[in-house]
Amino acid sequence: MTGGAVRPEGPRASERAARPDGALMIEARSISYAYKETVALRDVSFGLPKGETLAVVGPSGCGKTTLLSLIAGLMPSTAGQLRVDGAPVQPRRPGTALILQDYGLLPWKTVRENVALGLRIRGMKPDAADQALREVGIADLAGRWPHQLSGGQKQRVAIARSLALGPDLLLMDEPFSALDALTREEMQDLLLSIWRRHRTSLVLVTHSITEAVYLGQQIMVLSPRPGQVVGLFRNPTVGDRRAAAFHEMVNRVRDALEKGVNGGA
Ligand SMILES: Nc1ncnc2c1ncn2[C@@H]1O[C@H](COP(=O)(O)OP(=O)(O)OP(=O)(O)O)[C@@H](O)[C@H]1O
Ligand SMILES: [Mg+2]
Repeated sequence: MTGGAVRPEGPRASERAARPDGALMIEARSISYAYKETVALRDVSFGLPKGETLAVVGPSGCGKTTLLSLIAGLMPSTAGQLRVDGAPVQPRRPGTALILQDYGLLPWKTVRENVALGLRIRGMKPDAADQALREVGIADLAGRWPHQLSGGQKQRVAIARSLALGPDLLLMDEPFSALDALTREEMQDLLLSIWRRHRTSLVLVTHSITEAVYLGQQIMVLSPRPGQVVGLFRNPTVGDRRAAAFHEMVNRVRDALEKGVNGGA
């Protein structure tokens, strides 16, 4: 399958599941979530093959963070089925790492200690911390305190902390939205190179259409709340901002977003 709209409902996902080389890291079938009477997500279906990337875009309040929370097992969906690595989603699955927008760094710990924290909590040796810091290019900042870092550097620490744990599923909630345009592109390139090296399955929530098209092998577009899938695209242009196909895909995603906002008008 090349670029183009994919039916948002389940069948394509299950077709991929049936392929011998297409084991799914995430399989969502008609999942919904309601905070009491507020329906945040409705009837969301998709499949993320292992080692692939999915970008999720949609207007503010449409349920993107809610979707990541469900995948991370922080709360159960109110309807539908959600499987991670072939099993019903479970809280505290060791292979799942969730990176939130505010970086979540402890101000009273150094960069190295922040990165080592997750390892210590899991009773693992902190040795992987330095390797992870090298990988995100800030080994020289290991002894600094969080307040001595730029936004981009803090984001690198947050990524290093997750990488150190060797996750097979990385969930990122608008990780680069607080950064200036150039730093943001640098971080997108860093994330891409990390993904190419490790082939970690990745779900990236973003407000930026270009970021989604740069990083998502699949792009899921959600409607305003309750978030429903109004477009699910296979994107062949990952990692190439200059390709004509990149701009074509940006327009497709934009159209889907507008269609979602205007209720299909
Ligand atoms: N704990 C909660 N209790 C009640 N409603 C909530 C709660 N958390 C979120 N909501 C509502 O659910 C909807 C989806 O929220 P969510 O945070 O998932 O949106 P989002 O797409 O991540 O938005 P943004 O792009 O602004 O981060 C919103 O309308 C929000 O107000
Ligand atoms: Mg959010």
